[in-house]
Amino acid sequence: MRKKIVAGNWKMNLSAKEALALVNELKVKIDHQPDTKNPKNSNGLPEVLLFPPYVYLSRVLEVFKNYEGVSVGVQNIHQEGKGAFTGEISPLMVRSLGGTHTLIGHSERRIHFNEDDELLAKKVALAMKNGLIPVYCCGEMLPDREAGKHFQLVAEQLKKGVFWMNEDEVKNIIIAYEPVWAIGTGQTASPEQAQEMHAYIRQLISDHYSNKIADEMTILYGGSCNAKNAAELFAKEDVDGGLIGGASLKADDFFRIIQSF
Ligand code: 13P
Repeated sequence: MRKKIVAGNWKMNLSAKEALALVNELKVKIDHQPDTKNPKNSNGLPEVLLFPPYVYLSRVLEVFKNYEGVSVGVQNIHQEGKGAFTGEISPLMVRSLGGTHTLIGHSERRIHFNEDDELLAKKVALAMKNGLIPVYCCGEMLPDREAGKHFQLVAEQLKKGVFWMNEDEVKNIIIAYEPVWAIGTGQTASPEQAQEMHAYIRQLISDHYSNKIADEMTILYGGSCNAKNAAELFAKEDVDGGLIGGASLKADDFFRIIQSF
């Protein structure tokens, strides 16, 4: 059975004090989660991934040390393993601290830092080589959707960024569908729109690899997912969880999303 995951992408938000308060509050909530009838992890929650800014990585890891089902990663890595790249962070550094995941190809990286699929494919490869699990983000802008090009665009992002991998590699990654028009806008994709794209992505994986691989891969939805709409989105067959921005900055909201399965 594929994993259910709720991930929080804090983006460039929170002071150190606020970040620690958030994770400590979240920890208390997770600790007090009563067992459910159908536990996904030993504490009954879906897997939780946290993507704080780099500078808080160690401190967040410390809070969730030895927590089954809570993993911590970063929002980006550099495409080279090491060297004279002032200001950049390598996957080895992240892994050596205990980080396990990295976002790759978030639309904010694609748009503001001109990251294209070729570069992202390099980042995916280097992440995996260093033992980090990539969460590969894809998604269309509003004009693409309005022009009916959203399926084609997402297919291209996946073909170039992901489908060069072999079966053993690809089954370890996570895909996040984040329609750019829904990010930070309060305008969520409807559960039907999300399901339609997730089913399409799964079909692409099935066509390129196999039904079995497609069935095992986790596909997250991101874009104004919040405590109110998460349950409806997560109820869709091919939506395996969420990549949450704004609503991951408040422990109450984020925890309600975690409980939305
Ligand atoms: P919002 O949830 O703030 O729309 O952000 C989504 C996102 O970009 C997560 O990576």
